[in-house]
Amino acid sequence: MLYTSLKAVAAVTALSAVTSLGMYLVACQRARALKRMNPTLTVYPVLIAPSSLLNLLNLIPRWMKISFPKNWTFDGKYDRFNETKDGVFAICTVNQTNVQVANPELSKEIMVNRYKEFLKPIQLYGVLDVYGKNIVTVEGNEWRRHRKIAAPTFSEQNNALVHESSIQIANQMFASWEKNSITAKDGKQSYRVNTSDDMMEFALSVISSAAFGIDIPWHTEPDNSEFRQGHQISFKQSLEIVVNRLQYWVITPKFLYLFPIKYLQETKQGFDEFGKYLDRIIDDAEDSASEETPKNLLQMLTKATMSEKSPESILSKSELKGNSFVFILAGHETTAGVLQFALTLLALHPEKQHKLFQEIRQVLGDSSIPEYKDLAKLKYVQSIMNESMRMFPPVTGIPKYTATQTLSLGPYVFPPKTFININTAGLHYNPAAWGGDSFEFKPERFMASDAPSRSGFAPFSEGPRGCVGKKFAQVEFMTLLTLISLNYTWTLPEDVDVAHVLDATQIITLKPKTPVELMFKRR
Ligand code: HEM
Ligand SMILES: *[C@@H]1O[C@H](CO)[C@@H](O)[C@H](O)[C@H]1NC(C)=O
Ligand SMILES: *[C@@H]1O[C@H](CO)[C@@H](O)[C@H](O)[C@H]1NC(C)=O
Ligand SMILES: *[C@@H]1O[C@H](CO)[C@@H](O)[C@H](O)[C@H]1NC(C)=O
Ligand SMILES: *[C@@H]1O[C@H](CO)[C@@H](O)[C@H](O)[C@H]1NC(C)=O
Ligand SMILES: *[C@@H]1O[C@H](CO)[C@@H](O)[C@H](O)[C@H]1NC(C)=O
Ligand SMILES: *[C@@H]1O[C@H](CO)[C@@H](O)[C@H](O)[C@H]1NC(C)=O
Repeated sequence: MLYTSLKAVAAVTALSAVTSLGMYLVACQRARALKRMNPTLTVYPVLIAPSSLLNLLNLIPRWMKISFPKNWTFDGKYDRFNETKDGVFAICTVNQTNVQVANPELSKEIMVNRYKEFLKPIQLYGVLDVYGKNIVTVEGNEWRRHRKIAAPTFSEQNNALVHESSIQIANQMFASWEKNSITAKDGKQSYRVNTSDDMMEFALSVISSAAFGIDIPWHTEPDNSEFRQGHQISFKQSLEIVVNRLQYWVITPKFLYLFPIKYLQETKQGFDEFGKYLDRIIDDAEDSASEETPKNLLQMLTKATMSEKSPESILSKSELKGNSFVFILAGHETTAGVLQFALTLLALHPEKQHKLFQEIRQVLGDSSIPEYKDLAKLKYVQSIMNESMRMFPPVTGIPKYTATQTLSLGPYVFPPKTFININTAGLHYNPAAWGGDSFEFKPERFMASDAPSRSGFAPFSEGPRGCVGKKFAQVEFMTLLTLISLNYTWTLPEDVDVAHVLDATQIITLKPKTPVELMFKRR
């Protein structure tokens, strides 16, 4: 009996070894073919694809050398590229070629000049169609229709609303800090703040308010609004489940949700209820479309599509839902991440924090609140945002695809079905674009009149397919950082490990490896 099982195990092991060897040899063949087309390109054949779950979950011991080390993403910065001629290398597996680009000119060519050739590999994005197709998950003419309707809703009117909401929510956040004060040695009030939690909540509240017109209560304050009626859980609870559990929802087979396991049932309820809230928000937006001047994104989106008669200019109800969902997803963790990194970087650099305060005082004079029109003058605030995103790009890779064409790119030629990833982490640390001090936090590099070529900077992607919420995020970040700086100085708590406080990890977007806590002190 034991002998038979051992035989079976041995047979399976031998079979997988042979299969693996075969797959590896095919990968080598693919690599050689690519190298023949591109003699100067650095090419690595591997058995396990970099995007494989085994690799992403770090399940492959490094010594096995059968996969590309995981640090080709953010951890390695430009390291992986300095063996290359010009910031481009390729990884070949048995059935896939994946090209990594950290070259400024070539990145720009892909994103801007030739965006119609280098397409989004939308076959990878189906998981984002939870509530319907949306601007992120479509290409070609279908994408143009979504973009044409969605882009104008990110208007100056909406940006002003983002500014207004940011102030209101910041004040709620400050009030919650004030409840837990400690008196510092100099007699001033100090607050130990779970900065990661609060930035996530802040960003969620801003998007909820400026995209949907729904004000969600800060922290655990109960939601007694009329909007809550008829739902099993509050909008905020459903929103939190959707944004925090999406990665499990999309990979778990739906039949599992039939089992009475609390976590699964809660998850299902969260996704179901969120869908119902979206239906309701869209219905309300339709009802109010004729009355008021719309301001929030969804009212504008709904109104735009109701006033049009031609099918090329409207979004279906399911597409409206899909886009609402994707706005939250795209706009929440990204902005919250930059805020966390920027605050931590400034805690480590008190001199920059001081300079920031000086600029704000100079622009605002005696005023204690930045007006919307002031934001354009706050160059150092924006430089801090930019420098934080350069060092910690929330989106570390922008995937593209050659689809059915053979495409040239600079000195290279790539066959159909090649994946091409603009590696923002590599790009943002590329010494050719940023010089030798790319590991230093220097917001000043964005202030200089001879600021380095912007083509080495793409936190929002660029070109027609770039981030539609860029200004939204800038207004939100700048308003909050200005308000914080006006009222507080901040430092790392004494018990925090300075060496690791900036460690980052990539779970969809880039975020601090362990939640950041900071000490804020009243000015
Ligand atoms: C600092 C914050 C943000 C960063 C770093 C960021 C970054 C990006 C990047 C890199 C892309 C291109 C993705 C790709 O091509 O694969 C993108 C697209 C997009 N972003 Fe953002 N984003 C931010 C905030 C926002 C906000 C606040 C919203 C909405 C409220 C938003 C909505 C979108 C949408 C809808 C797209 C898809 C555009 C299209 O495909 O036409 N983003 N963003
Ligand atoms: C990335 O992985 C390679 C190979 O395992 C290793 O030599 C290198 O030191 C790593 N780099 C970083 C920044 O972790
Ligand atoms: C690439 O450059 C970085 C920074 O200069 C260095 O630490 C690293 O060892 C280099 N890697 C290789 C493979 O040369
Ligand atoms: C490529 O091969 C891997 C491993 O055999 C497989 O999981 C994956 O689905 C294949 N992908 C394509 C696009 O054929
Ligand atoms: C911060 O988070 C920790 C762990 O979740 C919690 O114990 C602590 O009370 C929080 N502190 C504040 C000030 O909210
Ligand atoms: C922030 O500072 C201004 C004065 O600069 C003050 O009017 C405002 O009340 C302060 N807000 C908080 C929450 O401390
Ligand atoms: C920050 O970067 C954006 C591009 O994302 C650019 O439009 C803006 O001018 C930059 N701001 C500064 C102060 O450099």
